Amino acid sequence: MRISVIGCGYVGLVTGACLAETGHEVVCTDVDAERISALRAGRVPIYEQHLDKLLESARGAGHISFTEDAGEAIRAGDAIFICVGTPPKESGEADLSAIDNVARQIAAEARSPKLVIEKSTVPARTGLELKRALGHYSRNGAATFRVASNPEFLREGTAIVDFFHPDRIVVGVEDEPAAEQLREIYRPILERRFHCPVHEPACPEGPHPPFLVTTINSAELIKHASNSFLALKISYANVIADLCEKLGGDVEEVTRAMGLDPRIGSQFLRAGLGFGGFCFPKDIQAFIHLADSVGVDFGLLKAAECVNKQRIDSFFEKIRKALWVLKSKRVAVLGLAFKAYTDDIRFSPALEVVKRLLEEGAEVRAFDPEAMARAEKALPKATYVRDAYQAAEDGDALLVCTEWPEFRQLDWEHMGELLARRLVIDGKNLLDPARMRALGFEYHCFGRAE
Ligand code: UDX
Repeated sequence: MRISVIGCGYVGLVTGACLAETGHEVVCTDVDAERISALRAGRVPIYEQHLDKLLESARGAGHISFTEDAGEAIRAGDAIFICVGTPPKESGEADLSAIDNVARQIAAEARSPKLVIEKSTVPARTGLELKRALGHYSRNGAATFRVASNPEFLREGTAIVDFFHPDRIVVGVEDEPAAEQLREIYRPILERRFHCPVHEPACPEGPHPPFLVTTINSAELIKHASNSFLALKISYANVIADLCEKLGGDVEEVTRAMGLDPRIGSQFLRAGLGFGGFCFPKDIQAFIHLADSVGVDFGLLKAAECVNKQRIDSFFEKIRKALWVLKSKRVAVLGLAFKAYTDDIRFSPALEVVKRLLEEGAEVRAFDPEAMARAEKALPKATYVRDAYQAAEDGDALLVCTEWPEFRQLDWEHMGELLARRLVIDGKNLLDPARMRALGFEYHCFGRAE
């Protein structure tokens, strides 16, 4: 099928590349001309494991192309995926102006019937507004529009494997033909007829993903409900960590035991600096705002958001308790991205930590395997070094702020020799307290015996 993708960010690029890899003809466009020219030159403007290989393969097969001309892209596809950003406004409400702008472009440029699919995360009832907008803006009778919702469940860092091996595919539609068209788009994935670049030489056997057809409103709600529930789990684990600190428990042991109950599950119960990224923080705000707008007080989510906002303050309490005065102290920071395996620093707790250290007059030497360039643009006053060892040189303290597994594999004996003071404050409970103390470190983290 001929497919258009509008928005070449973390979601649009993965969607376009994966659909091209499964055999569709994909045309992608973005308002950022530089991004399009980089993509046309074979450069990938974001870090996402396997994306570069996938794009190269899709481009080589002639299954994907990039254009600055939105009209060209819109006319090329029978189905159009909207993958533009929906950032939070001051109020927390989702800013849907980019969606409205795309609707206007589609209505103006389309010359034939289109299935318009919202993949961006949007509040419930957006699809109905989108349908109205397409009708209002339409000037060409030949262009009729069906609207559908197809939320993404892609985790940054594992987005390619999440696309090819989804837990579920959810589509919200107005009618059966739209469902059938989406089933056709996803058929190679539903029937596992594709080459997934993540698994060599072949993908593991497994069940075919369920294809859930529902209404547009329900599909939009599924996305917000899923993401905010995951965030709720994280905040719950963080309050358990605070309780463990006060009562003398070990949050890692408590959450591990909890997770052995399949009704709870072990994932998303890791305590620490809390959640960041361009999804959880904004999705929670948008969901709370949506609930408020229809008279439902989503106190549970408000509490989860409040807990998450306090994590940085809790972390700084630990830093101050150990360092006393921060001004003129040299602090090594390991990790800048909002999570491991990505270069994305949006809403990153690690960046908030660096920002506050700089505001207090500390000297920050920071390292991250992937996010250095983006972090340096955002916070130029910190010093960005080539590896963790250089960050540790003469440091009065070392902070772990992103859960990169490679930080566990460092030679911590050598790190201790490099540091002026063997003080580690672990914002992600990444390291083993017993091992660190055996190496002579003062080691602090969340929810474990000091
Ligand atoms: C999330 C959802 O997982 C995904 O399904 C959705 O489509 C997009 O949003 P993502 O934002 O890429 O994906 O990251 P995720 O892996 O969910 O982590 C979000 C944040 O939670 C990160 O800052 C991570 O460090 C933090 N986290 C995660 C915890 O603090 N504790 C945990 O146990 C797990």
